[in-house]
Amino acid sequence: MSFAHRHLLGIEPLSQQDIVTILDLAETYVDLNRQSAKHADVLAGLTQINMFFENSTRTQASFELAGKRLGADVMNMAMQASSIKKGETLIDTAMTLNAMHPDLLVVRHPHSGAVDLLAQKVNCAVLNAGDGKHEHPTQALLDALTIRRAKGRLHRLNIAICGDISHSRVARSNLILLGKMENRIRLIGPPTLMPAGIGEFGVEVYDDMREGLKDVDVVMMLRLQKERMDGGFIPSEREYYHRYGLDAEKLALAKPDAIVMHPGPMNRGVEIDGTLADDINRSVIQEQVEMGVAVRMAAMELLAQNLAAETRR
Ligand code: NCD
Repeated sequence: MSFAHRHLLGIEPLSQQDIVTILDLAETYVDLNRQSAKHADVLAGLTQINMFFENSTRTQASFELAGKRLGADVMNMAMQASSIKKGETLIDTAMTLNAMHPDLLVVRHPHSGAVDLLAQKVNCAVLNAGDGKHEHPTQALLDALTIRRAKGRLHRLNIAICGDISHSRVARSNLILLGKMENRIRLIGPPTLMPAGIGEFGVEVYDDMREGLKDVDVVMMLRLQKERMDGGFIPSEREYYHRYGLDAEKLALAKPDAIVMHPGPMNRGVEIDGTLADDINRSVIQEQVEMGVAVRMAAMELLAQNLAAETRR
């Protein structure tokens, strides 16, 4: 297994083979995580620090469990209450932590590019857990694993990504990954939530959801990211649900075996009907969460192997 990267900052630098390597290793962890004893010790003795400068429930819990299951010492920094509030810069915080010799740093930050900047200043491996509107690589990888398991392959699928595309790092990382794996991607949403010039990236863009969903294999819904909006993007949530909310009637236009995905957290009744989200025959939302832990275990193991090889040199 070779994975020639020091950090996991985005999907952009990964090759098809890198993606397959992570997903294949993650499969072994899906099996382990379903057993009652869930321990593998590949990160034993290593220190993992989670720094979340932005709220997170599932991503932080998932990284924490992933590290613990692999035997690392895991520490969660409460960045909301930290010395950042006292005016310390991101780089100073990073340097301080670096002096404590962590091996893996997991970072989420509200600004695009902040995690890359931090990675340049520290000696350990850095995993991007979401930076602004830029990338969220482990989300795209867990989505890929979920799709591969549900559809039996990860290429030549018709995949619709729907909703608030322009504010979404999840959409961005998924677009890059699914494009690299040679799928056909459709973006569906109101023009106000579509990044300018996106049509040039080899994707099809629809503002009519019914048209966009026709015969797709996968429907990936996104949350309306209200915290990233400064007003005026949608007329009202009611109107939005009517046009872009996924319900059984709109889903009927997709392939009969199309799966429904959502990275969470969901706004039920805004971008997705609650009953459909809970329908285990169509929705793989819980599987996505399950795959998240396995994918993060795999990514951390691969990065740790490189660190170990570097120390031996
Ligand atoms: C996403 C995120 O934080 O980017 N959530 C997640 O990681 N599961 C998507 C979102 O917040 O809507």
